[in-house]
Amino acid sequence: MSDRVQAPRGTFDVLPQDEPARAALEREARRTLGGAGYQRLETPIFEATELFARGVGEATDIVRKEMYTFDDGGGRSVTLRPEGTAPVCRAYVEHGMHKLAQPVKLWYLGPFFRREAPQKGRYREFFQVGAEALGSDEPAVDAELIVLLADLLQTLQVRARLRISSLGTPETRAQYREALIAYLRAHERELGTDVRERIDLNPLRAFDSTHPGTRAVMELAPRLFDALDDADREHFDAVTAMLDDAGVEWKLDTTLVRGLDYYTRTVFEFESPDLGAQSGVGGGGRYDRLVEQLGGPPTPACGWAAGIERMLLSAEPVEERAQVDLFVAYAKPQYAREALRLATVVRRGGLHAEVELAGRSLKGQLKQADRVGARYVALLGDEGTQLKDMHSGEQHAIDPGAVADAVRRERPVA
Ligand code: HAM
Repeated sequence: MSDRVQAPRGTFDVLPQDEPARAALEREARRTLGGAGYQRLETPIFEATELFARGVGEATDIVRKEMYTFDDGGGRSVTLRPEGTAPVCRAYVEHGMHKLAQPVKLWYLGPFFRREAPQKGRYREFFQVGAEALGSDEPAVDAELIVLLADLLQTLQVRARLRISSLGTPETRAQYREALIAYLRAHERELGTDVRERIDLNPLRAFDSTHPGTRAVMELAPRLFDALDDADREHFDAVTAMLDDAGVEWKLDTTLVRGLDYYTRTVFEFESPDLGAQSGVGGGGRYDRLVEQLGGPPTPACGWAAGIERMLLSAEPVEERAQVDLFVAYAKPQYAREALRLATVVRRGGLHAEVELAGRSLKGQLKQADRVGARYVALLGDEGTQLKDMHSGEQHAIDPGAVADAVRRERPVA
């Protein structure tokens, strides 16, 4: 045997036993978001690299070191999408969605790629469910989105705490940035190397540092939240009042930093106490300038994304097995054709049927029927067809054409 080929580090297979929980999560997402008028949009897995460089921000970790970027063979640089907001904005502009009634409310679910150091809850290919509302700056948009994520997490029985803050406008932020840079320069020697080297490039990231010296300095650092102008402050107060109305608990966290540069005003994150180091289950915020930055008309917008694997890690396990109505077994190999024919007829009648595919002995076939949880077994042999009720063990002769109806009569309504 030659060397075994393995999956790349930080990736995982979705095994059959993992599927029911993922399917249940997708169903809940569709129900929660669809029920609020959000429509599904799926964008390509790869995009022009420029979309993320311009959209997510050149100074972010994602763009600096986490993107899977390659030449597509035709001299164009493309990137496996590290996030979904910039692609949704691109699609919004490309399809003229600004001409529709606003806001345009969209959701998505699919794989994303970041070259991060793999650990529990942090992968290089992971799945997100996300929701974005484009075309309105009403605080009700922010509040609705946050309540929907809170409700989705609650339905999935994911325990999570909500932290929220406001980053104001880029203009307020520019002024604040100068003040923060001056403060960091004054404490330069106490800071970690990583932060010190990036004081001018991305001073806000200092709030995210785990370096003890940096943390101590940041305790007393000036806060952007205290520098917000009246309109931004009113927006924040309106959003949080609506969260109160909906009974969603929140906590102001003026140190909240998100790893993406496009945010304005509201930013938030749901954190699960059950997850260890990678505790962020979902997060997002408002991005009022992003659509314009990508070449579209001025379009205020807001959204979030939540990590599927992290939600599943902290959710209640889902036990779900497809109901097998019938297993078709046969006494001799010459009945194999007839067995497949019977299974096909029963399936076309809308029932779940499995058929013997491994040439087992009759005893082995009955064991297999039991293993898959079949309600009935149709047994084909020299004496015709028998139908065996696997609950009662009772068995009787039956015309093959009558099997589907006999099984259907006993089937509980789904
Ligand atoms: P994000 O905070 O970078 O935001 O990612 C959202 C969620 O994706 C995280 O809370 C986490 O659960 C999950 N996630 C991120 N990276 C990984 C990873 N390497 N492994 C496993 N799970 C991960 C965004 O992506 C923004 N696009 C959210 C947004 C939408 N903002 C506005 N609209």
